Amino acid sequence: MSHRPARRARRASASPLFTPHGTDRASRKAARRRLAEAVAKARSEVAGQAAGTATADHESPAPLYPPSGRPGPASARGNRLRLPDHRMTTAIAAGAYPFLAEGGLGAEGIYIGRDVHAEASFVFDPFALYGKVEGFTNPNVLLAGVIGQGKSALAKSIGLRSVAFGYRVYVPCDPKGEWSPVAAALGGTSVALGPGLPGRLNPLDAAPRPASLSETDWAGEIRKRRLLLLGSLARTVLGRDLLPMEHTALDVALDTVVTRADDSGRTPLLGDVASTLNSPEQLDEAAGLMSGRLGDAARDLAHAMRRLVHGDLAGMFDAPSTVAFDPDSPMLTIDLSRLGGSGDDTALVLAMTCASAWMESALTDPRGGRRWIVYDEAWRLMRHPGLLQRMQAQWKLSRGLGIANLMVIHRLSDLLTAGDAGSEGRALAEGLLADCSTRIIYRQETDQLHAAATLLGLTSVEAEAIAHLNRGRGLWKVAGRSFIVQHLLHAHELALFDTDARMH
Ligand SMILES: Nc1ncnc2c1ncn2[C@@H]1O[C@H](COP(=O)(O)OP(=O)(O)OP(=O)(O)O)[C@@H](O)[C@H]1O
Ligand SMILES: [Mg+2]
Repeated sequence: MSHRPARRARRASASPLFTPHGTDRASRKAARRRLAEAVAKARSEVAGQAAGTATADHESPAPLYPPSGRPGPASARGNRLRLPDHRMTTAIAAGAYPFLAEGGLGAEGIYIGRDVHAEASFVFDPFALYGKVEGFTNPNVLLAGVIGQGKSALAKSIGLRSVAFGYRVYVPCDPKGEWSPVAAALGGTSVALGPGLPGRLNPLDAAPRPASLSETDWAGEIRKRRLLLLGSLARTVLGRDLLPMEHTALDVALDTVVTRADDSGRTPLLGDVASTLNSPEQLDEAAGLMSGRLGDAARDLAHAMRRLVHGDLAGMFDAPSTVAFDPDSPMLTIDLSRLGGSGDDTALVLAMTCASAWMESALTDPRGGRRWIVYDEAWRLMRHPGLLQRMQAQWKLSRGLGIANLMVIHRLSDLLTAGDAGSEGRALAEGLLADCSTRIIYRQETDQLHAAATLLGLTSVEAEAIAHLNRGRGLWKVAGRSFIVQHLLHAHELALFDTDARMH
C-alpha cells in the first residue's frame, strides 16, 4: 500500500495529458486531474507574467492561455508542413480522381445540347466568349465531319437559335438548297439562281458607304474588293496564277468600265469587264502605253470572263441584281441547287464566289449588328487558292464588322488539298484554320485521324474519340479547351432540317 501513491505519480508524469484509450474510471479520473493541474499551472504562469507588467489592483482573472499563444513548437506556428512526395501513374490518377470534367463555357449563349463528360447543358456564343476566354481571338468556327453526321443540322440550329438573340444569318452559297425551308420558317429570304430562273445577282454591286469612311477611302475599298473578285474568278477558270500583264489588264479594264458606268449613273457589270478585256484597242487606249501589248496579254483573261457571261453561268451574274439586300431580314440564303450538275464543279464554285462576293459586300455596315455567315459545303472551295485568298481577306474584315464565319468541310485534309506544303494555297488554308478559334470535329475516317490530329494539335485521346463519334456528337475545341457535345434537336427542328427524307 505504501508504494501506491509514488507509482501513481510516476504514471501520471509519464503518461500524456489525455489518454486515448483511458476508458476505465480510474484513468478518466487521472486524466481529469492532470487537466486541472495543467490549467492551474498555465494560470499561475500567466499571472506571473502579468505581475511583471500590471499593477497590484489587477483584479480580472488571468486568461487561460497566453495572449500570444503558446510558446515553442506547441504554438503550431512557423513550422513548415512537410508531407512526403507522392507519385502515381496517370492510370492510377484517373482512378483516384475519376470525376474531373471541364467547368464549361458559362451560361451565356445559345443552347447546343449536352456536354457528355460534365453531364451539363452546353451553350455557345462566340460573341459572348470573345475577350472573356483566354486565346479566343476571333468568333469564327470550323466544322468538319464525314457525310451525314449532322454538320448542316448543327449549323442550322446555331443559325435558327441565334435569331432569337437578334443575330442575322447569311448563307451565301447553299449548293443543296437545304437552307431555303429554314429561311422560310424564320420569315427570311432565299434567292434561287439557275438556268431559267429569274434571280440575278451582280457581284460588282457596291455596298452603301459606312458613315465612318470618306468617299475616297470607300471608293478605294470597293475597287480593291472588285479586283480581288475578278482576279479570283479569272484564276479559278484559268487554273493558274495571273501574269503581271494580266493583272494590269484587269486593273485597266475595271477602271475603264467603272468610269463609264459612273458617267451613265449605273452599276458596272461583269459583261462590261469581259467586253473591255476582249477589245485590245480600248485596253491599250486606256492604259496609254505599249500599243498592242496589253490587248494581247489579256486574251486568256477575256476568255475566262466570257464563261461567266456567255457560258454555263450566262445571265446569272452579269445583270443588275433582282434582289435588294434587306438588312432587317433574319436570314438570307442563296440557293444554288438548280445550277445543274456537270461533272466539273467549276461552275458551282464560280457561282459560290460571285454569290459570296455580292452578299459580303452588302454586309459592310458595322452597325448591322451581330451576324453569322455560314459557308456550308465550303470544302468545294478549298482547291481554288484564288477563292481562298478572297475568303481570307473577307474574314480579316469580319471581326471589325461583328461577323462570325462558320465554315463547313468534310475532312481536315480538305485544307491540305489547297496546295503542296509551303505553297500559297496551303498557307491560305492554314491561315483560315488559324483564324477559327472554335473547331468542331464530327466523326472522321480512321485514315484521316493523323491529319486531323496534326492540323488541330489533338491529344491521342481526342484523336481516338473522333473516330467513334455518333451522329450529332462532336469534339468541340474552343480556344484550346475540349468538350464532347451531343447536339440536341427539337422535334420541329428535326423535321425542318431533315436531309434524309428521300432515304426514308
Ligand atoms: N443531333 C441530331 N440528332 C438527330 N438527328 C440528327 C442530328 N443531326 C442531324 N440529324 C439528322 O441527320 C441527317 C443528316 O444530317 P445533315 O444533313 O446535317 O448531315 P451533314 O453532315 O450536313 O451531311 P453532308 O455532309 O451530306 O452535308 C438529317 O436528316 C438530320 O435530321
Ligand atoms: Mg450538310
